[in-house]
This record gives sequence, structure tokens and C-alpha cells, in this order.
Amino acid sequence: MKLVIKDGILIDGEGFNEKADILIENGKIKGIDKRISLNDAISIDAKGKHVFPGFIDMHTHLRQPGFEEKETIKTGTHAAVAGGYTTVACMPNTNPVIDNEVVVEYIKSIAEREGYCKVIPIGAMTKGMLGEEISEMAKLKDVGVVALSDDGFPIMNSGLMKRIMTYGSMYDLLMITHCEDKMLSGEGVMNNGIISTKIGLRGIPHEAEEVMLARNIILAKSTGARLHVAHVSTKDSVELIRRAKADGVNITAEVTPHNLCLTEDIVDGFDTNTKAYPPLRTREDVNALIEGLKDGTIDVIATDHAPHTKDDKKVPYEIAAFGISGIEIAFSVVYTYLVKNGLIAIDDLVKHMSTEPSKLLKLTHGFKIGNDADITIIDLAKEFTVDADNFKSKGKNSPFNGQKLYGMVEYTIVNGEIKFKNDGNYQISNV
Ligand code: DOR
Ligand code: ZN
Repeated sequence: MKLVIKDGILIDGEGFNEKADILIENGKIKGIDKRISLNDAISIDAKGKHVFPGFIDMHTHLRQPGFEEKETIKTGTHAAVAGGYTTVACMPNTNPVIDNEVVVEYIKSIAEREGYCKVIPIGAMTKGMLGEEISEMAKLKDVGVVALSDDGFPIMNSGLMKRIMTYGSMYDLLMITHCEDKMLSGEGVMNNGIISTKIGLRGIPHEAEEVMLARNIILAKSTGARLHVAHVSTKDSVELIRRAKADGVNITAEVTPHNLCLTEDIVDGFDTNTKAYPPLRTREDVNALIEGLKDGTIDVIATDHAPHTKDDKKVPYEIAAFGISGIEIAFSVVYTYLVKNGLIAIDDLVKHMSTEPSKLLKLTHGFKIGNDADITIIDLAKEFTVDADNFKSKGKNSPFNGQKLYGMVEYTIVNGEIKFKNDGNYQISNV
């Protein structure tokens, strides 16, 4: 099948920003030119719209196997393509945990059969994510795992973490670390500060993140591991990463759309959809995160898409589950809050959502002839109101519900196939 995307504005996150047509044949990008006219091709009219290399989410919780009431590979990848993502890397805190090749193969086979986009399983650093015994990295590597993570279950034992990094670098695995000192975060449920004091909720101090981050930087420096810091949230973390980069440490970092755009103030009101780890922080932290994105300290915007059931969230704030369902609106959130307000450029947004994650996961991606045709078409001018109840994701837990956002995903194309098409309003049917 031949497909031509016509008259769109192409932005690839690597400096290319021009009006052009794209020819797709047999799932690959066959041509990029000012004007491509073919009689035997299906054409998509992208006039006035923007065409990007498909987004890649380095941090998605698909929940399957084990927590199918929260999300499945099918619903999570459906939500992903509705958000313009063509690849997601899924976190290992499933049941059973992704700590062996059988679970990796299981996820890959379901994704192959039922998934809307590409799925890259992330392996656990320790067996069962229990922080006791290192998982079998060589076997995970053999089945194509490219990254390990302890997301949600930070490894408190520094000796163990050092061994994980040492072995991880032998296998060239990316070490995605959730930086949290559990002794410091304790029973906290939101950022520790004025708001937590005012409304009487226990706080998570910013040091909980920074102490663990500093430890991991020191260990990455001595082991040479490729350290990737998950969901950075504080001003001092940004500074620690900036200094580590200047010091030559092999470190990269990501930030979530919610930590980039929201502050702790909205927790006042006890909406449990504002509860996540790391917590929403202060305006000063948000400004530092934006600065970090701009100067290259933070490489990637990753969603930490963490779907939960209504029951998980319909409880007092103290006991509600941590997490935000965000993959469907991640682009629109950052576009509306940051790009439209002139804080970052659209080219940079594409770089952080597509180019940088593809490099870290060592994927062949982007607008190059011969690459897989993984492409997203967005109408930046189109406004919509977030209606979380209509998310493709099973997780309706969004603090952005009811907000007006700009930037509607019109098409998501994976391997040259249209996997998502906007039918005219935000709620789209399968194609
Ligand atoms: O808010 C969060 N939810 N943070 C995490 O680190 C884990 C995640 C989850 O799995 O729900
Ligand atoms: Zn996570």
C-alpha cells in the first residue's frame, strides 16, 4: 500500500522544519519532497497541520499482566496512539514482574496481537522488584530488553545498586532510576511545604529525591553505567544533573508533563487525581524544570502514564493510589502550557518527545528514507476540552479533566498503518 501525506509542515526535532510531502510504501518512509503526486496512492490531506515523527514514551505503565482492571496492553496502546505515540516502553511493576524472559515474551506477543503501537518492555533491576536479588540481566538482554528500572520501588541498598550498575553497564543497559529515599519520603502524600502544612497532609520533602539522585550519580560515575533519571521534579535535582553532565557522568533525565505544568497548589481541594509520585512541586521547581529542558539538562518528556481505577482514587487523599493517567493528552498539555506561552519552541517539544527518547532506546526513528513510517499528524490550532471519562485508557485519573487544551492529534501512523484517526471530535473510533 502506498500512502502520501500531503502539504503538512514537517518538524523532525533535529532541525528540519519545512512544508513537504511524505511517501510511505510497505510500512517505510519512501520519499520526502516538496511535492509528491502519485495516482496509485492513498492521500492524507495535512494542509495547515503539523507532521512529526511519532512520539516515543519511555515511561508507561501498561499494567498487564496482573492489573488488568487498571489498564491492558490493548487499552494502554490505544490511549498511546490517541496521544500521538507510536512506541511506548512499559514499566516492570506488573504481576508477575517483568524480571524474566517469559514475561517479556508474553508482553511482546500480546502487543503484537492486540497492541495499537510498538511496545518495548523494560526489565526489573531486581527479582520481583523486591530490592534483594539482581534479575537475570543477560537473559533479559537476549530477549531484546534495552533498559532496566526500579520504578516505584527504589533500591535502598547502595551496595546492591552499585552491583546492578556494574552488571548493567557490561550489558549496555539503560538504568532508569526512580530516585526516592523511602526514609525521607516516609508516609508523605504530597510535596512538603506551605500547602501540605495548610491542608494537613503529610509531606514528601524535595530531599527525598535529591539524596537518592546524588547517590545514583556517584555510583554511575564510578561504574560508568548509563544512568537515566525518571521523573525529575525538583529544582535542586535539575542542578545536580546539570553538574553531573558537566562532570562527564553518563546521565540523562526525563520530566513528566504534570510536573512541568502543574504545582502543589492544586492539591488544596483534595482531588486525588493530583496525587502522584513524585508529587507536584512548587512554582520555583517548575521554572527550574523548564530551564533544565531548555538548556539540555533534561533530555526527555516522558508521561509516567499511571492508570488507576476509580476505586483506587475515590478514597481519602492519604490512601489514594499514586499516579496520573496522561498519555492521551501529554503533547497537548505541554503544547498548551509551554509552547503556546512561548516558554519552549515546538521543535524542542518534538525533540524531547521523539528524537531524544529514540536515541536513548537506540531506535531507528525519524524522517529518514528507509525508516519505519511512524508518524503523527497534529492540528495545533484545534482546541478541545479534556473529558477523562472518554479516555481510551481505563485510567480516568487526570488532574487536567475539564481543561481546554490545544493541539489535537489527527492521525497516528505506525509502520505505515493508520492506527488512530480523529473523526472530528476528540472521541475517536478505532480504524
Ligand atoms: O505516581 C506514580 N505511579 N509513581 C510511580 O513511580 C509509580 C506509578 C504507578 O505505578 O502507579
Ligand atoms: Zn512510573
